Amino acid sequence: MKLNTEDVARAARYYVEAFERLKVFELLKPLNSARRFKSFKWIKSFKPLDSWFGRSIAGFERLERVELLERKRVEQTSKTINVFKAPAMMILLIASTIAACQQKMADQPRYEPLSRSTFFGDRRAARPLVEGTVARGQLRTDEHLYRGREGGLLADRFPFPVDRAVLLRGQERYDIFCSPCHDRVGNGQGMVVRRGFPAPPSYHTDRLRRSPVGHFFNVMTNGFGFMPDYAQQIPVEDRWAIVAYIRALQLSQHATVAEIPEEKRQELGINR
Ligand code: HEC
Repeated sequence: MKLNTEDVARAARYYVEAFERLKVFELLKPLNSARRFKSFKWIKSFKPLDSWFGRSIAGFERLERVELLERKRVEQTSKTINVFKAPAMMILLIASTIAACQQKMADQPRYEPLSRSTFFGDRRAARPLVEGTVARGQLRTDEHLYRGREGGLLADRFPFPVDRAVLLRGQERYDIFCSPCHDRVGNGQGMVVRRGFPAPPSYHTDRLRRSPVGHFFNVMTNGFGFMPDYAQQIPVEDRWAIVAYIRALQLSQHATVAEIPEEKRQELGINR
């Protein structure tokens, strides 16, 4: 490439100017954006004045072009922001409006559980079930199983066969729920009673030994005098299992030697 004096002068001017700018850039380095910083790096890559005039001129012209483009881009970006500003505001507005609606739904008037009502006559916000309401699967028409009665009288037999498994289940449940007051053998001297709770009668009285099994089921289901009911804590089948175990307890305190089978008697060391 052939250069005339004008070209050289121009190149020199650009060169000086570029390095002036470089200094400014250096000063503003922390303030400049990343992209500006990039173009600054680009300037830095210029070859020294004495050997690369030609390329430098092309380079400076490119620098000018790049700077122009850069400025345009920056302007355009800010314009773009302006163009998007209005819809963005709209979206914000709509969003906040929707949020407001949602808030209204979430905060609509309602009763907290068990709160007082000024609307209903009985002042209770929780409404009682309509009479005769039966929850699914809870019709419970089996009077014997669910109420311990047969033909209106307390049942004197179990609603299902009692075997070893039922007795063991009954023992476990009895020890958990009943023994704190009735004690492990049913004398009515449980720990709660020893701490002052009214003493229940012993299961081994003639009256309770003669009582039908339905009576025990009924006591657990509905409570009896001082004794609270255990309908919530103990499912129906378990209540019957407990009754079976109470029968076993009663037998245990009243069995005669004659009732013990021969081989068991020997095992226990009873000779008579
Ligand atoms: C918190 C103590 C307590 C617990 C636990 C308890 N009972 Fe009682 N129970 C009593 C008292 C007290 C009485 C006597 C109530 C009365 O006569 O007022 C009683 C009485 C009874 C009677 C005799 C009712 C009669 O005809 O005199 C039976 C049967 C009975 N309980 C069974 C049970 C069974 C079964 C359990 C376990 C599921 C149980 N109890 C758990 C305190 C308790």
